[in-house]
Amino acid sequence: MNKLQLTLAIFKPDISLNERAVSEIRKIILKDNYLFVRTKFHKMTLEKAKEFYKVHEKKFFYNRLVYSMSSGPIWCHILARENAIKEWRKLMGPTKVFKTIYDEPQSLRGNYGVTDTRNTLHGSDSDENARTEIDFFFEDFDINKWYANEEKLFR
Ligand code: PPS
Repeated sequence: MNKLQLTLAIFKPDISLNERAVSEIRKIILKDNYLFVRTKFHKMTLEKAKEFYKVHEKKFFYNRLVYSMSSGPIWCHILARENAIKEWRKLMGPTKVFKTIYDEPQSLRGNYGVTDTRNTLHGSDSDENARTEIDFFFEDFDINKWYANEEKLFR
C-alpha cells in the first residue's frame, strides 16, 4: 500500500440533515477506499465561516457562501486514502453546477448539488490547506503525529 494522505471533507448544510443522502455518500466514500479518521457534526457561526473562507472575501459570492455555510449543521470528516486530496475532489466533481450537469453528471455534486452555493460538498485543494482546514475543525487532532504513526497503524 502506498502512503495515505489526509484531506478534509465537509458535507454542507444543504445535505447534512438529509440522512439518506449522508448515508449514500458515506457508502460511496467507503467503497472508494477511504478511511474515516475523524467525523464531527458541527454548526459554524457566521464569524467562523467568514474566517474559513477568508481567502474568497473579495469574490461576489462571499456573503452568499458564508451565510449558507453557517445556516445549518455540517458534517466534517478527516478522510485518509492514497492521493486523498486529488481523489476526493475528483469524486466530488466540479464546483459549478452547470459543469457538473454537462461534464460530470455522475459525480457526487452532479447527483446531489443544486446550485453553485448548494453544491453539497467541500474538499481541501492542497496538502497545506488540508492541514490548515483539519486544524480549523479538529483542534485536538495532531496531524504530524498521525502521519508519523501512519505506517505503524495501517501496514
Ligand atoms: S473561484 O472563483 O474559482 O475562486 O471559486 P471556487 O474555487 O470555484 O470556489 C471557492 C468556494 O466558493 C464556493 N462558490 C460559491 N459559493 C456561493 N455562490 C457561488 N456562486 C459560488 N461559486 C463558488 C465554492 O463552492 C467553494 O467553496 P467550497 O467549500 O470549496 O465548495
